[in-house]
Amino acid sequence: MKIKNICCIGAGYVGGPTMAVIAQKCPNINVTVVDLNEARITAWNNPDFEKLPVYEPGLDEVVKEARGRNLFFSTDVDKAIEEAEMIFISVNTPTKMYGAGKGMAADLKYIELCARQIARVAKSDKIVVEKSTLPVRTAEAIKSILDNTGNGVNFQILSNPEFLAEGTAVTDLHNPDRVLIGGNNAEAIQSLVEVYAHWVAKDKILTTNVWSSELSKLTANAFLAQRVSSINAISELCEKTEADVNEVAKAIGMDSRIGSKFLKASVGFGGSCFQKDILNLVYIAKSYGLNEVADYWEQVVIMNDHQKHRFSKNIVQTLYNTVSGKRIAMLGWAFKKDTNDTRESAAITVAQDLIAEQAKVVVYDPKVSENQIKFDLEQDHDNEIIEVGTNPYEVCKKAHAIAILTEWDEFKTYDWQKIYDSMSKPAFVFDGRNLLDKQKMKEIGFVYSAVGS
Ligand code: NAD
Ligand code: UGA
Repeated sequence: MKIKNICCIGAGYVGGPTMAVIAQKCPNINVTVVDLNEARITAWNNPDFEKLPVYEPGLDEVVKEARGRNLFFSTDVDKAIEEAEMIFISVNTPTKMYGAGKGMAADLKYIELCARQIARVAKSDKIVVEKSTLPVRTAEAIKSILDNTGNGVNFQILSNPEFLAEGTAVTDLHNPDRVLIGGNNAEAIQSLVEVYAHWVAKDKILTTNVWSSELSKLTANAFLAQRVSSINAISELCEKTEADVNEVAKAIGMDSRIGSKFLKASVGFGGSCFQKDILNLVYIAKSYGLNEVADYWEQVVIMNDHQKHRFSKNIVQTLYNTVSGKRIAMLGWAFKKDTNDTRESAAITVAQDLIAEQAKVVVYDPKVSENQIKFDLEQDHDNEIIEVGTNPYEVCKKAHAIAILTEWDEFKTYDWQKIYDSMSKPAFVFDGRNLLDKQKMKEIGFVYSAVGS
């Protein structure tokens, strides 16, 4: 089937950038991204391209090129479904917080709602593409809903997981390591291959059966997160032995079998997916009675929790076992640099730990709003304890300690002497990203500690 109209349900961190790039690279295909969230759609349609709901370097340029030409953002879900030959489902699949599988399984209610809506609305044959990250064998459930509640039209299901990382979404989409398409109908697979072939080399478009594709996505995230937990586990050992985790990472990364990427020790991984997807993998393994497999992967998350709490514990211990009433400046709130996304950010855990110790936490992040930071904390804590600043020098003024939670490049360019002069003494820096020059910081007079050295 030649695709002329694409609909994507879900205008989030994946749906927005992914569809913007498809529209940019395929000017002959109309792409409509729909969402129930009106505010989000309004923001995608904002005339000021700096105010799109997702901050990603280069995304404004892509949207500028395609929006209004063949890229549209709308809340009219039914209309977009009706007009499209191919429908991507790119809604959220968070960890389920109730009932069976609470705290582990993926909550598939949004996926099921999409499937039922597609079935109800579709009056012609459709290819339905799983873009969201899903438990292996979800395509079976989607197919059953479509076939049993639809209008007798034909549905083909494909799995096309997304591998972009936030902060580099546009370059990842322009130059993917691979595009994965799982399915059991050659014609449907070919239709999607042709979309990507507008800009991705054919040898990078991998086709598999639908179950391999679904499972590969969870596996890729589990392997990536496992590398971070592995190097973080070694970071704790480094701190006890005078080994330096940066040197260890470099030494092992030069082995081409290991590779140098994803070996940065840190305050712990965050983001909306690593923890959720590993817990989902653990749940799936358990549901098949594979308890050793489940325990093996669960340890990656346990190690990550340990790393986050270890970081805050170290701050309290170093500050003479009390931070009560002390001003602690937190630089960075996003879960990594170059994104405004804060989901599962290690900064949230660290702030909660410090607030529980009655510290006066003051936060600065270049891209995250005060509202978002307060929203992230408000479930459990009194907002008055936390302050959010827009000037890093003011935030650090009179602080007893600075904690670096996100590896924003701008932190490296600060006048650290000026910051030191304005702080309470001794002036402590806890570098959760190994971002700053240890030697220089010590020469200025900071009591500086980094992860894993
Ligand atoms: P998100 O929360 O940013 O966006 C999801 C959007 O779907 C929301 O705007 C929500 O309003 C909308 N939505 C939910 N149900 C809907 C419905 N029935 N009809 C219309 N709209 C609906 O989520 P995200 O970060 O874009 O992630 C989406 C999926 O992609 C998840 O499964 C995630 O695991 C996966 N994924 C995410 C990333 C990432 O970097 N964030 C990368 C790869 C894969
Ligand atoms: C990750 C994967 O990299 C993507 O391929 C995947 O598509 C995506 O999850 C998803 O499914 O959502 P993302 O979470 O956006 O992407 O960002 P990463 O670059 O993977 O970073 C995740 C976390 O690990 C961040 O908190 C980061 O700071 C941390 N990290 C990463 C480290 O602490 N050390 C490293 O060496 C690498």
